[in-house]
Amino acid sequence: MIHVHRYERIWITSGVVMLAFFIAVLAASAIVDGFVPNSRVQTIDPTKVAQTPPFDKPGLRKVADGVYEAYYVAQIFSFTPHTISVPAGSRVTFYVTSADVEHGFSIPETGVNAMVTPGWVSSVSYTFQKAGTYLLVCNEYCGSGHQLMAGQVEVK
Ligand code: CUA
Repeated sequence: MIHVHRYERIWITSGVVMLAFFIAVLAASAIVDGFVPNSRVQTIDPTKVAQTPPFDKPGLRKVADGVYEAYYVAQIFSFTPHTISVPAGSRVTFYVTSADVEHGFSIPETGVNAMVTPGWVSSVSYTFQKAGTYLLVCNEYCGSGHQLMAGQVEVK
Protein backbone atom coordinates (compact mmCIF):
# COMPACT_ATOMS: atom_id res chain seq x y z
CA MET A 1 0.00 0.00 0.00
CA ILE A 2 1.20 3.49 -0.81
CA HIS A 3 1.92 5.63 2.16
CA VAL A 4 0.06 8.93 2.00
CA HIS A 5 1.35 11.64 4.28
CA ARG A 6 -1.16 12.80 6.87
CA TYR A 7 -1.20 16.40 5.59
CA GLU A 8 -1.66 15.19 2.05
CA ARG A 9 -4.59 13.04 3.17
CA ILE A 10 -6.19 16.04 4.92
CA TRP A 11 -5.64 18.09 1.75
CA ILE A 12 -7.20 15.47 -0.53
CA THR A 13 -10.13 14.96 1.85
CA SER A 14 -10.86 18.68 2.07
CA GLY A 15 -10.76 18.90 -1.74
CA VAL A 16 -13.30 16.11 -2.09
CA VAL A 17 -15.52 17.61 0.64
CA MET A 18 -15.45 21.03 -1.07
CA LEU A 19 -16.30 19.51 -4.42
CA ALA A 20 -19.25 17.65 -2.90
CA PHE A 21 -20.33 20.88 -1.16
CA PHE A 22 -20.24 22.91 -4.41
CA ILE A 23 -22.24 20.27 -6.26
CA ALA A 24 -24.79 20.25 -3.41
CA VAL A 25 -25.04 24.08 -3.56
CA LEU A 26 -25.62 23.96 -7.32
CA ALA A 27 -28.30 21.30 -6.99
CA ALA A 28 -29.99 23.06 -4.05
CA SER A 29 -30.06 26.46 -5.76
CA ALA A 30 -31.46 24.95 -8.95
CA ILE A 31 -34.28 23.32 -6.99
CA VAL A 32 -34.96 26.11 -4.46
CA ASP A 33 -34.83 29.06 -6.89
CA GLY A 34 -36.65 27.12 -9.57
CA PHE A 35 -34.27 28.14 -12.32
CA VAL A 36 -33.20 25.86 -15.09
CA PRO A 37 -30.05 26.06 -17.16
CA ASN A 38 -30.43 28.17 -20.28
CA SER A 39 -31.16 25.93 -23.15
CA ARG A 40 -31.38 26.66 -26.83
CA VAL A 41 -34.38 24.60 -27.73
CA GLN A 42 -34.73 25.16 -31.44
CA THR A 43 -33.36 26.98 -34.41
CA ILE A 44 -35.09 29.73 -36.37
CA ASP A 45 -34.21 31.78 -39.45
CA PRO A 46 -33.37 35.18 -37.90
CA THR A 47 -34.36 37.02 -41.09
CA LYS A 48 -37.87 35.48 -40.99
CA VAL A 49 -38.73 35.86 -37.28
CA ALA A 50 -41.76 38.08 -38.05
CA GLN A 51 -43.19 35.36 -40.35
CA THR A 52 -42.33 32.33 -38.20
CA PRO A 53 -44.96 31.03 -35.73
CA PRO A 54 -45.20 31.49 -32.82
CA PHE A 55 -42.96 34.54 -33.10
CA ASP A 56 -45.15 36.14 -35.76
CA LYS A 57 -47.53 36.82 -32.84
CA PRO A 58 -45.30 37.33 -29.82
CA GLY A 59 -46.99 37.51 -26.43
CA LEU A 60 -48.36 35.58 -23.50
CA ARG A 61 -50.27 32.31 -23.89
CA LYS A 62 -52.15 30.63 -21.07
CA VAL A 63 -51.49 26.88 -21.03
CA ALA A 64 -53.50 26.10 -17.87
CA ASP A 65 -54.36 27.82 -14.60
CA GLY A 66 -51.07 29.20 -13.31
CA VAL A 67 -49.09 27.95 -16.32
CA TYR A 68 -48.06 30.32 -19.09
CA GLU A 69 -45.79 30.50 -22.10
CA ALA A 70 -44.40 33.86 -23.18
CA TYR A 71 -42.97 34.32 -26.67
CA TYR A 72 -40.61 37.27 -27.06
CA VAL A 73 -38.84 38.86 -29.98
CA ALA A 74 -35.72 40.81 -29.02
CA GLN A 75 -34.71 43.48 -31.49
CA ILE A 76 -32.64 46.66 -31.27
CA PHE A 77 -33.70 48.20 -28.90
CA SER A 78 -36.87 46.62 -27.56
CA PHE A 79 -38.61 43.49 -26.43
CA THR A 80 -41.94 42.48 -27.97
CA PRO A 81 -44.12 42.16 -25.92
CA HIS A 82 -42.93 45.01 -23.69
CA THR A 83 -45.16 44.08 -20.74
CA ILE A 84 -46.84 40.85 -19.70
CA SER A 85 -49.18 40.37 -16.77
CA VAL A 86 -49.74 37.13 -14.79
CA PRO A 87 -51.32 36.20 -11.45
CA ALA A 88 -48.99 35.57 -8.50
CA GLY A 89 -47.90 31.94 -8.29
CA SER A 90 -47.76 31.52 -12.06
CA ARG A 91 -45.09 29.50 -13.75
CA VAL A 92 -43.97 31.21 -16.94
CA THR A 93 -41.79 29.62 -19.58
CA PHE A 94 -40.11 32.28 -21.69
CA TYR A 95 -39.18 31.58 -25.30
CA VAL A 96 -36.99 34.31 -26.72
CA THR A 97 -35.40 34.86 -30.09
CA SER A 98 -33.58 37.72 -31.77
CA ALA A 99 -34.44 39.33 -35.08
CA ASP A 100 -31.02 40.96 -35.42
CA VAL A 101 -28.04 40.78 -33.07
CA GLU A 102 -27.06 39.09 -29.81
CA HIS A 103 -29.20 40.28 -26.90
CA GLY A 104 -29.65 39.32 -23.28
CA PHE A 105 -32.87 38.44 -21.46
CA SER A 106 -32.58 39.02 -17.74
CA ILE A 107 -35.05 39.54 -14.91
CA PRO A 108 -32.54 40.38 -12.20
CA GLU A 109 -34.67 39.56 -9.13
CA THR A 110 -35.45 36.07 -10.36
CA GLY A 111 -32.39 34.36 -11.76
CA VAL A 112 -33.98 34.41 -15.23
CA ASN A 113 -30.98 35.08 -17.43
CA ALA A 114 -30.53 33.92 -20.99
CA MET A 115 -28.41 34.86 -23.95
CA VAL A 116 -30.51 35.52 -27.03
CA THR A 117 -28.61 34.56 -30.15
CA PRO A 118 -29.96 35.15 -33.66
CA GLY A 119 -30.95 31.81 -35.17
CA TRP A 120 -31.83 30.21 -31.83
CA VAL A 121 -34.73 30.16 -29.40
CA SER A 122 -33.68 30.45 -25.77
CA SER A 123 -35.96 29.07 -23.11
CA VAL A 124 -36.11 29.62 -19.36
CA SER A 125 -38.86 29.06 -16.79
CA TYR A 126 -39.66 30.81 -13.55
CA THR A 127 -42.46 30.72 -10.96
CA PHE A 128 -43.45 34.24 -9.88
CA GLN A 129 -44.53 33.78 -6.25
CA LYS A 130 -44.42 37.42 -5.15
CA ALA A 131 -46.67 40.12 -6.60
CA GLY A 132 -44.93 43.15 -8.00
CA THR A 133 -43.44 44.64 -11.12
CA TYR A 134 -40.34 42.85 -12.34
CA LEU A 135 -37.95 44.62 -14.64
CA LEU A 136 -36.78 42.80 -17.75
CA VAL A 137 -33.48 44.03 -19.19
CA CYS A 138 -31.11 43.29 -22.00
CA ASN A 139 -27.78 42.45 -20.41
CA GLU A 140 -25.70 41.89 -23.54
CA TYR A 141 -24.31 45.03 -25.15
CA CYS A 142 -26.17 45.36 -28.46
CA GLY A 143 -25.52 48.91 -29.63
CA SER A 144 -26.15 52.58 -28.92
CA GLY A 145 -29.63 52.06 -27.42
CA HIS A 146 -28.72 48.98 -25.36
CA GLN A 147 -29.47 50.67 -22.02
CA LEU A 148 -33.01 51.53 -23.22
CA MET A 149 -33.86 47.93 -24.04
CA ALA A 150 -36.21 46.82 -21.27
CA GLY A 151 -39.63 45.43 -20.45
CA GLN A 152 -41.80 44.43 -17.52
CA VAL A 153 -43.47 41.42 -15.97
CA GLU A 154 -46.43 42.46 -13.82
CA VAL A 155 -47.38 39.90 -11.17
CA LYS A 156 -50.75 40.58 -9.52
CU1 CUA B 1 -30.26 44.28 -26.57
CU2 CUA B 1 -28.49 45.12 -25.20
